[in-house]
Amino acid sequence: MNRKHIFIALAIALPALAAAADVVNTKQNLLVAFNQEVNARLRYRAFADKADAEGFPGVAGLFRALAFSEGVHADNHARALETLGGRAVESVLVYRVETTRANLKESLRVERSESGTIYPAYLKQAAVDGNAQAVKSLEGAMASEGGHARLLSKVLRRAGEWKTKLVLLVCKACGYTTDDLSVKQCPYCAHPRAEFAEL
Ligand SMILES: [Fe+2]
Ligand SMILES: [Fe+2]
Repeated sequence: MNRKHIFIALAIALPALAAAADVVNTKQNLLVAFNQEVNARLRYRAFADKADAEGFPGVAGLFRALAFSEGVHADNHARALETLGGRAVESVLVYRVETTRANLKESLRVERSESGTIYPAYLKQAAVDGNAQAVKSLEGAMASEGGHARLLSKVLRRAGEWKTKLVLLVCKACGYTTDDLSVKQCPYCAHPRAEFAEL
């Protein structure tokens, strides 16, 4: 894939992206979604480093699993975009790293926005446009982001466990993320457990 990096300095880029669900067409929506995922991956990696620095390996593990998952979404969106003749051009944005608690809260807000507002709108448009690969990619991301929100909410409520290392599984096909280590296959895409990433 021939991706070009464009660095854009925006002071508070993340909320601006997350708040918008401007539906144009599936090609444009996939490019926006691709960049939401690319930037989420970068942000979560930075949040993980911050959590480690604050002595919270449990939260760091969650952020690293989320980063891996967002990378799966980005790759899927890029492939779907290519089926429409588009090209996944990265627009890397500046983000803020706050305290781990603040990073968790902001992440939860964004994941809820993506799963509850942005992806449903994109999915609806993809169905209208009749692009099956886009529908599959967007469905996988929407379901995963809902799962991310649930995990973030759970971890936020259990600050007493932040110092305990957390093991998570991520489906390499759709990005589904879970702390249920007994899972046999992905509930969304049926990818076998043996091919999940363990982080
Ligand atoms: Fe997410
Ligand atoms: Fe999956």
